Amino acid sequence: MYFDVNPKERKEDLFNREKELKSIIEALNLRERLIVVYGIRRIGKTSVIRVSLRDFPHVLLDIRQLYFSENIVTMPLLVKYVLEGFRARMKTSEKLYLGLRDVMSRIRGLRIGEIGIEIEPSAKISLTDILSRVDEWCEEKGERFVFAFDEAQYLRFSNVRYDGIIAWAVDNLRNLSFMLSGSEVGVLKEFLRVDEPSSPLYGRYMREVYVDRFTDEESRKFLYAGFRELGMEPDSSEIEDTLKALDGVVGWLTLYGYIRAVRKFPHEDALAKVFEEGSRLVMEELDKVISPSRKRYLAIMKAVAHGSNSWSDIKAYVTVKTGPIPDSRLNELIKNLVRYGYLEKEDDKYRIPDPVVKRAVMQ
Ligand SMILES: Nc1ncnc2c1ncn2[C@@H]1O[C@H](COP(=O)(O)OP(=O)(O)O)[C@@H](O)[C@H]1O
Ligand SMILES: [Mg+2]
Repeated sequence: MYFDVNPKERKEDLFNREKELKSIIEALNLRERLIVVYGIRRIGKTSVIRVSLRDFPHVLLDIRQLYFSENIVTMPLLVKYVLEGFRARMKTSEKLYLGLRDVMSRIRGLRIGEIGIEIEPSAKISLTDILSRVDEWCEEKGERFVFAFDEAQYLRFSNVRYDGIIAWAVDNLRNLSFMLSGSEVGVLKEFLRVDEPSSPLYGRYMREVYVDRFTDEESRKFLYAGFRELGMEPDSSEIEDTLKALDGVVGWLTLYGYIRAVRKFPHEDALAKVFEEGSRLVMEELDKVISPSRKRYLAIMKAVAHGSNSWSDIKAYVTVKTGPIPDSRLNELIKNLVRYGYLEKEDDKYRIPDPVVKRAVMQ
């Protein structure tokens, strides 16, 4: 169902994204080792990744979730989740993953059984160990294995340099591919630092895939397809109204469709509910980023939301709202909002790419 609000798993539930899927699948078939998927929140990255990985042996970890569980992505935590990822697939008793279990049990202090994973308390199991074993196993079987780290920019919160480990694996383990994705595009690029000569990943070839917002035409087709799938013929003025309000961010369109077509809310109420639920979600996420200087950050966002979108207009607005601010400080705050994907800059004008964020900060 197109209007299912969970990330999509099956190709038939994923609308469009042919180009993105083709690029990722081509990269995997060409045995490319590093694939990076960029795009703002709720634009469909996780869905594209899940659908594209269906036919490849893989583990997919949500690094953001992992980070929020302990506020740091330690090696034992990451290892544990990788192993859990293997085991989750074994439950479906795929032959492939049973083979993996044998390989893993060659690692000292580790046993993966049907009921659970046992790690001897004294055992220090490293990610590089696991990666090497999986690579060996692939070599034997002529397989390829994908480690997919969703919201990978959270790997930077660690006492371990994961960029170094990934670079090492990319160089040495030829049967593995790494897929990294991130909503905070600027932050993910900083983590990877591929343009910096001193960085471990410097100069590595990578396949970059940008998941973009739907055009008006695509959004329109998506909504029509979603309604028709549920046996409803939508009112064209409602559709146009929704496009204007939600602007090609497929996550919001999906939520609207779910509330309108599955829960059968009237159009106006459905749209209001998207903004209401969406704003709450968005402010929670935004608050984490802006807490060090909440008033000023919010003033910047508000300025842009109200159309004061050049640098000098933002400065004027922020000064009125929160008092004088040095240029360097203002630049720093604006830059952060861009890194985290809350602002975009085009022709010296700033804009808020997500209509729900825009509405939320205006309130
Ligand atoms: N191409 C698509 N077709 C249908 N629904 C989609 C599509 N892309 C995303 N969605 C829906 O939009 C929401 C956000 O998608 P998700 O993959 O979680 O985005 P992201 O990982 O970029 O935040 C989910 O409800 C998902 O089902
Ligand atoms: Mg996601």
